[in-house]
Order: sequence, then C-alpha cells, then structure tokens
Amino acid sequence: MKTNAPIGIYDSGMGGLSVRREVCRLLPEESVIYLGDGKNCPYGSRSVEEIRQLSVEAVEHLLGLGCKLIVVACNTATAAAIEYLRGKYPHIPIVGMEPAVKPACLRTRSRVVGVLATERSLDGDLFRRTAAKYGADIEVITTPGRGFVELVEENREQSAEAVEVVSRAIRPMLERGADQIVLGCTHYPFLLEALERAAEGYRVSFVDPSEAVARRVGQLLDEHGLRAEAGHRAEYSFETFADEAYRQRLARKAADTK
Ligand code: DGL
Repeated sequence: MKTNAPIGIYDSGMGGLSVRREVCRLLPEESVIYLGDGKNCPYGSRSVEEIRQLSVEAVEHLLGLGCKLIVVACNTATAAAIEYLRGKYPHIPIVGMEPAVKPACLRTRSRVVGVLATERSLDGDLFRRTAAKYGADIEVITTPGRGFVELVEENREQSAEAVEVVSRAIRPMLERGADQIVLGCTHYPFLLEALERAAEGYRVSFVDPSEAVARRVGQLLDEHGLRAEAGHRAEYSFETFADEAYRQRLARKAADTK
C-alpha cells in the first residue's frame, strides 16, 4: 500500500464533513476522498441489514479509488456495520465513530448526561455497551434527533426552524439538569449554533467526538506505517452515490466548514 494514498471518509451524507474537517486539520499532509452517499440518506431509520449493504458498497468504492484507511464517519453505520466491515476487510484499517458517552460521563457534575443520536444508533449494541460501562451511576437520557439530519442536508442549520427543532429534543434533558449533551451523530455538530441558542440560560456543554476520531486515524496510520511522506501535498476530492449537484454541494459545504 502506498503511503501517499488517500484516506477514505464515508457518511450517509454531509454529516461526516464534521469529521473530515478534524482529519484535514490534524493530518494536513494526508489526501482525503470524502464519500457522502446522499442517495440513501438518512440511514437513521433503516434496518441493520440495509445499512451493512450500503456500507459495503461505500467501502468497495473507496478501496477501488485506492484508499489506504477508511473512516466510517457515521455513528449509525458504525453501530450497524463496523464489526462486519472489519471482518470483511481485515487488511484495511477501519476507524468508526465512538459515541462520546465516556468523556461526557467523566465530565458531568450534575450526574445527568443527554445523548442525541439517530434511532438506529440508540438501539444498537455499541451505544448500549458504552452507556452501561461509563454511565453506571449517572442518569443517561437518550433522545433521537428527529429532523436534525434533514436540516443539515438541506442547509437549513441557521434557520429559526432549526432552533425550534433542536429545542424540542433537548428541553427535557436540560430540565432534568443535564450538563453534558453528547452529539452522537456526525450531522449534529453542524447544528451547534442552533443548539447553543436553544440552551441559552443553561450551563451545558455539547460533546463532539470528531477530534478524538481524527487522533485515532493518526495513531492507526503510525501503527500501520501508512503516514504520507513529509511535505506531501494533500489532494482532496468528493464522491457521492447521488448526482453531480449533490457532489458539488458536498465540496461547497466542506469549504464552508472551517
Ligand atoms: N451522520 C450519521 C450518523 O452519524 C447518520 C445520519 C443519518 O443518515 O440518519 O449517525
């Protein structure tokens, strides 16, 4: 495997751009191909079998383009398919999303933690195991972010409607005293402004695992001897299973995501 080969980052749509931003920031010499499915988004209410199938198609596509490492920048696809993908592609390092329940449980003072994620992630094993391990004496309140993904996909993050939609989801957590709210879906960091407006007057932090995931990518590159050469000029490109207009929207949103 050539070390200057690109890293492949995959999500159901635009959400994984929040992870891509951190990977590009932390690893500026690495080329990155971002694949935002777009055609089958949202994944959040699809069956595990369907998500596995879609994830295999995505990984095949990225491997076909010569990627040396894959980041599944989608909590839903991680929950449904990461073990399956690692079994199917044992020679390729595959990084998934870890719901940031651990850091939230370590930081909480009120002992109440909120978790926002898609329905499929919340009923998956990965989430249940993490919550049981770190949240034993903590009240963990989970809520699916209904309508969140659509707001991001349609570029409506800045709208008044966005504040209303997120407010409906987090109000009960805030009223119970949550001081940490985990963003358990890669689309949700795009709604941070709306979330902060909806939480005005409450002392609460929103926890996004993207940076930790990017650090893990760096570690794995080192472990596998796959870092790009010093001074390598990174190249960036975008792929989708939707149409050319969607591909261009991905590129634009990435450019706006600083
Ligand atoms: N961005 C994805 C996640 O992290 C999935 C959103 C969706 O397609 O429902 O879960």
